[in-house]
Amino acid sequence: MIHFDPTTNTFNLVLSTSFYAFRVDPEGRVLHLAWGVRPHSAADTVVLAGPGFESLPQPDQAAVTRRYELSTFSESALQEVSLKVSFPSLPQQMAAGEAMHLPIRDVRLRYAGHEIVTDSSSGSGRSAQPGLAPAHGQPTRVQTPRETLRVRLTDPSQPFAVTLCYRLTPEHDIIERWCEVVNTGPEPLHVEALAFATLHFPNGTLELTSVSGWWAREFMTARERLPMGVRVIEQRAVQTGHQTNPFFLLNRPGQAWEETGHVYFGALAFSGAWRLAFEQLFTLDVRAHAGYNPFDFDLTLAPGAQHVTPAIVIGVCPDGWGGASRRLHAFALERVLPRPADGPAVRPVLYNSWEATLFDLSHAGQMALARKAAALGVELFCVDDGWFGGRRSDRAGLGDWTVSPDVFPDGLEPLVAEVHRLGMKFGLWVEPEMINPDSDLYRAHPDWVLHFAGRPRTEWRYQLILDFGRPEVVDAIYAALRELVARYHLDFIKWDMNRYTTELGSAAGQAIWRAHTAGVYDLLDRLRWNFPHLQIESCASGGGRVDLGMLARTDQVWTSDNTDAIDRIRIQEGYSLAYPARAMEAWVTHATNLQTDRVSSLGLRFDVSMRGGLGIGSNLNELDDAELAEYASYIAFYKRIRHVVQGGRLYRLQRLEEWGASVIEYVFADGREAVYSAAVLDYQQGWVRPPSPLRGLDPSAMYTVSDRHGAAVHRARGFDLMTVGIPGDACGNPGYSRTLHLKRV
Ligand code: GLA
Repeated sequence: MIHFDPTTNTFNLVLSTSFYAFRVDPEGRVLHLAWGVRPHSAADTVVLAGPGFESLPQPDQAAVTRRYELSTFSESALQEVSLKVSFPSLPQQMAAGEAMHLPIRDVRLRYAGHEIVTDSSSGSGRSAQPGLAPAHGQPTRVQTPRETLRVRLTDPSQPFAVTLCYRLTPEHDIIERWCEVVNTGPEPLHVEALAFATLHFPNGTLELTSVSGWWAREFMTARERLPMGVRVIEQRAVQTGHQTNPFFLLNRPGQAWEETGHVYFGALAFSGAWRLAFEQLFTLDVRAHAGYNPFDFDLTLAPGAQHVTPAIVIGVCPDGWGGASRRLHAFALERVLPRPADGPAVRPVLYNSWEATLFDLSHAGQMALARKAAALGVELFCVDDGWFGGRRSDRAGLGDWTVSPDVFPDGLEPLVAEVHRLGMKFGLWVEPEMINPDSDLYRAHPDWVLHFAGRPRTEWRYQLILDFGRPEVVDAIYAALRELVARYHLDFIKWDMNRYTTELGSAAGQAIWRAHTAGVYDLLDRLRWNFPHLQIESCASGGGRVDLGMLARTDQVWTSDNTDAIDRIRIQEGYSLAYPARAMEAWVTHATNLQTDRVSSLGLRFDVSMRGGLGIGSNLNELDDAELAEYASYIAFYKRIRHVVQGGRLYRLQRLEEWGASVIEYVFADGREAVYSAAVLDYQQGWVRPPSPLRGLDPSAMYTVSDRHGAAVHRARGFDLMTVGIPGDACGNPGYSRTLHLKRV
């Protein structure tokens, strides 16, 4: 509910367990009041009336400490700002004695009015959509209309307007914030920095949880105390990145844990160069500037032009990091991930041949793998890299999206037909943004890549990036993809992106930082629009492109190229802080892992992969009948539990940082069914781990607890399970794991 009190000019955004309040001061500044958990028993209509907490020891510090809802480069340079604009003209009205130098680099925003608009339930409510929101027209699971508050601001002496937007999803305590900037004058304006929002936290909210990493070790959870000054997490690339990921959890140090404590959270719905700058002022104020990375940023607004930023999804909850994660998961499942009406209710079991064959592809080999995969219960068969052009290794072929006769002498059609005859869906790997210099496309269009004339073109993995600042390039790639999907009746594509950015010279100039992402989104949206049945996986050398902007256009993401089950426990735990299990693709691969050479049991490999969308990546031709039967048994078990894994609420009952074990539970809101999964990474002689009481069950109901064979290994009342847990996991050694299925009797 959006509440406005005209007597105090105070706005209150009222959500399920939280609220967000700001006001217009007598000078028209829009200033933050408070954001937090609502008093437990407060009715929706009881809202914050008075001024918020002011930290103004001295009046002359007011310029620094004023809590603007969008802070601008103006009255103080002591702190970070969210918006910088350079105006090319003098104001119309000037006082005597003012100098004429230009540009004017000072933005003041003053309240000019507000509206509350409601999304249309058909999804066509574009006026209430943040920029770079999906244009594919496919529905999300929940489509009930939501309210958006739009607060209009104008600069008093320059032709510039900003609208601050707040869309509410009250049931998950979530606000999407974005802003719209408009040049209302006759000359171009340069926007030099633009965040989607400025966020203010209560003083002392200094414990930051985020993730860091690199290829093969994405999503490593990091907890730290914010310093005085600025702590930045960011990416300077045209993808979301491996080094960190655009989400955060924030709480008072020592005051939050998995299920307790007030936790603030946020996640950017953007897949390009982003920045989250957390700032603790000398006055102890804590704030964040969340949005486009100001590094090398430039946005030129032509006369009359408007730019709508993507959104940051924010919230605060009273029930710990777990509560924050569950809210983000529910939001992604219900409001972000596309769910076409005839799309699958659950993610299919996937087979991907990459680790089995690498570039050593053949028609016969793929046919044999497909037949074995189908016999195991696989539902979607994806041919990975190496099927096209001159792509016999990573040195050539990217850009030439035609089936290679060297690999498939009779074309791809016989394989597609066989996969479909076997009852599976068929998919292909593509890397549409990339080009190898050794490709026909590059030989025809050497100017189509990001580069500066007269400068070297630095390669990564022997490849360059296509210039998506040129519309003809995006169109050519779309034509190639459309041809593939249509001709081979593709049900699925794995969209990869395997390099970082260098020499960002583009027809779009500095705007390429955003234009590249806009081009990727445009291609994905066009594909989804024209092929509504098509399912898409986002991959960027593993988990390098996972964010809410991508989840809005894809069905699943590849979490990491590292498929080692032990490493994966940690990777998946970090991923789960912000993103839902339904979208997390996880493969079972060979006993001896390709990346780490570590040997893991089949049980551990399945138990870890069954925590998300299950995939198989092993070379099935190397497995004997007994091993294949074991695979089939696990896949059958996964099919019995996946609706809970992919649709239930996640509780991290034990985190790795406590006892070296990860014990998690997925449970339906009504407690009728749950999945319990324990996996041990570390153990020291003599340790006895604490029990892991379950959550969300019906205390007075009886539950059966079964293993993968359907055998009941335990039977207990919800009360017992929710106080003592399931016995048996106290002393597991590294590599110990089990997955159990709970059903209310
Ligand atoms: C990237 C992906 C892998 C695989 C290879 C193929 O590394 O992350 O899963 O598709 O490319 O070259």
